[in-house]
Amino acid sequence: VSAHEAVYFIFGATGDLARRKLFPALYSLYREGKLGERFAIVGLARRPRTNAQFRDDVYEAIKEFCRYKPSDTESWNAFVEHFTYQSLDINNVEGFRELKVHTEELEAKYSIQGNRLFYLALAPELFGHVSRSLRDGGMLESKGWRHLVIEKPFGYDYASAEKLNQEISEVFREDEVYRIDHYLGKEMVQNIEVIRFANAFFEPLWNKNHIANIQITLAETVGVEDRGAYYNKSGALRDMVQNHLMQMLTMVAMEPPSRLDAEDIRDEKVKVLRSIRKMNSREEVVSNVIRGQYAPGSMKGKELKGYRDEDSVDSASSTETFFAATLYVDNFRWAGVPFYVRTGKRLPVKSTEIVIEFKNVPNNVLFANKQNVLPNLLVIRVNPMEGIYIKLNAKKPGNDMSIQTVATEYCQSCLIGINTPEAYERLIFDAARGDHTYFTRWDELAVAWKLVDPIAAAWKEDSSDLQFYAAGSWGPDKVEQMLAEDGYHWWPVN
Ligand code: BG6
Repeated sequence: VSAHEAVYFIFGATGDLARRKLFPALYSLYREGKLGERFAIVGLARRPRTNAQFRDDVYEAIKEFCRYKPSDTESWNAFVEHFTYQSLDINNVEGFRELKVHTEELEAKYSIQGNRLFYLALAPELFGHVSRSLRDGGMLESKGWRHLVIEKPFGYDYASAEKLNQEISEVFREDEVYRIDHYLGKEMVQNIEVIRFANAFFEPLWNKNHIANIQITLAETVGVEDRGAYYNKSGALRDMVQNHLMQMLTMVAMEPPSRLDAEDIRDEKVKVLRSIRKMNSREEVVSNVIRGQYAPGSMKGKELKGYRDEDSVDSASSTETFFAATLYVDNFRWAGVPFYVRTGKRLPVKSTEIVIEFKNVPNNVLFANKQNVLPNLLVIRVNPMEGIYIKLNAKKPGNDMSIQTVATEYCQSCLIGINTPEAYERLIFDAARGDHTYFTRWDELAVAWKLVDPIAAAWKEDSSDLQFYAAGSWGPDKVEQMLAEDGYHWWPVN
């Protein structure tokens, strides 16, 4: 499959995702030669827009959000002439027939052999409609491939996700569907496989015999911004846990796949999800999960509103902006090892990190100041800093046998000249070349929903367990206690 010749259809082309992520990603791919010259990009949305206006929007987006800046006029024009815009009502099949005519012209112009990538940056309720209209408007009758790329949220719970999937699968085969979880496009998330499976150090120790606990943090400083209407229905559980957090957990916990290809990796990930202990009652949920909501607070001297005072948020909302839980993967490798996970908005830092805490060396009499013998840690820094470090114990220089903790660090994002591709760049490129590895398969998604649904159901019963935390703090106090009860603590996140 050649990624170099395709028409890319961006549904929702006047939206935020297109502006912030998709246009910049396409431009970076272009600059790196990964789009070639035989491509066309068609922006689609309801709003009328001329090609010239659309190209201006693309220019502004790239100027603001892309790691490459628009080049001189001549080369910029050579790129942007591949962009056209068509206003489209997704329920009107006639519009799709017009789109077909337009597409065939573009394919002839750029010698594209009928490869079509449909990127739906739209609300999921519309996925089914668009799929049907694409079919009924004749857009799927081409001799090349057809790939459908869809964005989360894939439904609201298992039942709605299944319905959505059903609608899509009436039109597209599973191997034509690419469900984006942009965390899987992140450099360091993809690196987990290499760190684990290409190093003699880690894999022999990667189990309950040597690992005390695993901590996964996805902290954000932003609040709900202007997404109140969406977020208030979704909350952290559906916005971050069901997808990004679960995906990272499965990458850390999965068995070595038989081959590093899409189906083998996804098979292993599903097994992890199936092994995660389900919480079946409200009692189990309340004792293993903490939900929080930010109250007014401050960060770096700046006063911040509470969640309930945000735009488009109900003033009595019980939506969680913070989630922490102790999860167990009940299989042979991980029996009894707690996976502590947390994510939240309005936390003190923007940082995603995975900490693997190893078990202590046997409690022995060798060292007088035993309290300095801290556990070894492997820390994978995902975002925004990228890198890994290991914490070891070493002798403090001097005459005493004193111990200090030292860190050996590989800071990828500190390397001069490194310009890591953005998640969306990789994912669009992979979707175009037909590589499913870093996309979510339907069965993964289904199991993930089945894990979070009981939590949502328990929360719905009553909201007495909702805890408030000051914006700019590390979440409700109970979150420290959660680990302290097991004799651990959260390792500071940088
Ligand atoms: C998105 C969520 O999927 O991920 C947002 O909807 C969140 O609420 C974002 O802010 C975080 O992504 P990143 O790449 O900035 O960590």
